[in-house]
Amino acid sequence: MRILSGIQPSGALHIGNYLGAIQQYIALQHDNEAYYFVADYHALTSVRDPEKLRAYVRDVLLDLLSLGLDPEKATVFVQSDVPETVELAWLLTSVTPMGWLEKCVSYKDKIAQGIPAEHGLFAYPVLQAADILLYDADVVPVGQDQKQHLEITRDVAERFNSVYGKNEPVFKLPDAKILPTVAVVPGLDGRKMSKSYGNTIEIFEDPKSIEKKCKRIVTDSTPVEEPKNPDTCSVYALLKLFVDEQESADWAARYRAGGMGYGDVKKRLAAAIIDYFAPYREVRKSLAADPVKLEEIRRAGAERARKTARIVLERARRACGLGS
Ligand code: ADP
Ligand code: TRP
Repeated sequence: MRILSGIQPSGALHIGNYLGAIQQYIALQHDNEAYYFVADYHALTSVRDPEKLRAYVRDVLLDLLSLGLDPEKATVFVQSDVPETVELAWLLTSVTPMGWLEKCVSYKDKIAQGIPAEHGLFAYPVLQAADILLYDADVVPVGQDQKQHLEITRDVAERFNSVYGKNEPVFKLPDAKILPTVAVVPGLDGRKMSKSYGNTIEIFEDPKSIEKKCKRIVTDSTPVEEPKNPDTCSVYALLKLFVDEQESADWAARYRAGGMGYGDVKKRLAAAIIDYFAPYREVRKSLAADPVKLEEIRRAGAERARKTARIVLERARRACGLGS
């Protein structure tokens, strides 16, 4: 099966991104033909500092590769290294009714937050449809928040097929694979961990800083000697994701028994996160020190992606009467 997904380079990746998405992308690369890309065209709708954008793209690429995306197994690339994407987006946008985009929740949310109503933001789902259709993807693993964009992708593909693909469909209809939300990773303030809330622990953040952040996680003010409830505690919710069942059961018993301060469990949490990512940190360090190798991986990924992209784009151009 051909799997495809993209991740926006709008800041350093955090442990919510890892447990909610990246870990699953990595697992899927083994039995599938996987395409994963850094969605920098999409990030243009929010990142307006060119130096920052370039740095974020490099950082996300480094993060993905260090965490185990294997460029020998998966096609790992940067979206804008495949400019065919924007040409296909234009072909698609020409058959996309305004009403479909007007009802998009993510667009409406952003406008409600006071973000300027720019055309790129409005047309964001069409660009996403181009990303997906350009590679004949079968399955697109994404978080629940992307479900509507996947529905639009299918609608746009069907619309294009019905206008131009009378004899033979031009695009394959992709299926969304909504990633299990069992692990909604809480942030430092107890809300969902998210860049936009500024409550994240980054995967490759300095260990000292991870310790500091764990100390800041919001807890209730139950005194040390009193029993505590692990099930309503963000520190425990995070700890459970990084230690084995036996250890998490032991900590739950310590919460309930009383006599344990939140400082103890926060210390253990920081150590567990640091240990968990330690091997990846080493890989990242050596890859970051070898920019030539990173550039070569990026170039090779783009070349492989473009090979597929050119074939599909040509099919779409022919279907709608472009070219001689
Ligand atoms: P952010 O909210 O930090 O901007 P994104 O929306 O870019 O994160 O998320 C990228 C992927 O990471 C999505 O597929 C999403 O499902 C996953 N993800 C993000 N935050 C969390 C979280 N706190 N818990 C679980 N998964 C998450
Ligand atoms: N919109 C997605 C997000 O914000 C990122 C993305 C861009 C994507 N293009 C995609 C995801 C194609 C899956 C397929 O998370």
